[in-house]
Amino acid sequence: MEVGALMEIVIQPSYEEMCEEAFRSLLQEVKKKPTLVLGLATGKTPAGLYRRMVESHRSFRRMRFFNLDEFFGLGPEDPRSFRATLKRELLGPLNVPARNVYLLRGDVKDPNRAAEAYERVIHAVGGIDVQVLGIGRNGHIGFNEPGSSLGSRTRTKTLDTKTLVDYAGIFASPDEVPRFSITMGIGTILEARRILLLAAGRAKADVIHRMVEGAVTAEIPGSVLQLHSRVSVFLDEEAASKLARREYWKWIYANKWRVGQ
Ligand code: PGA
Repeated sequence: MEVGALMEIVIQPSYEEMCEEAFRSLLQEVKKKPTLVLGLATGKTPAGLYRRMVESHRSFRRMRFFNLDEFFGLGPEDPRSFRATLKRELLGPLNVPARNVYLLRGDVKDPNRAAEAYERVIHAVGGIDVQVLGIGRNGHIGFNEPGSSLGSRTRTKTLDTKTLVDYAGIFASPDEVPRFSITMGIGTILEARRILLLAAGRAKADVIHRMVEGAVTAEIPGSVLQLHSRVSVFLDEEAASKLARREYWKWIYANKWRVGQ
């Protein structure tokens, strides 16, 4: 049995080293449970973690995979959909059997029904063991934008303007970014047994400070992770640069073996 509660902050010199640490944590969990249920975030940040999974040439084929969110309106064949991205960058190269892959689809007619069905499947497999997360500059986790209910379940969510700008890169312009998404809710995310959140770069420094050291508030949805009992936040130096207790977090991580962690 796991005891105690933990929000560990892992600060590494570079993005690559940050991904390496996150990969090591994930591997420890997979060794304990080869059929682990993994929730996948999409976006620039977790790409280095997924690359390590692929390049390790280990078998992750017994694991079950869910995704955190998807653009509403994009079909599975659209290369910009999160489903296509995860298949291309991770699940295809890992050769994961289709029966172990449960990804939200953006092209469903009734997204709210699809969202309810998704919750039922998560429940049926015994829940998410490890959820990988990124965080938006506005504090979103998944597409739970500021103001989201902290108890929300998988549902449709309207994207806010900062998110539209941040995703304009994969579309021709902010006008072309879908306005709606389907996303696991904050309540859904909080039920994952372990959370690995990754953030890199100076653009994330403010939000990381508010998420880790600020108040728990729906204005920064990621701050709700302060209420979770097993969260690891992997940061590069730039994303950690505005943490008031940066040196304290580093010391704790370097010395955790002394208290048997
Ligand atoms: P990013 O996205 O990893 O591409 O910065 C994070 C997010 O929007 O949650």
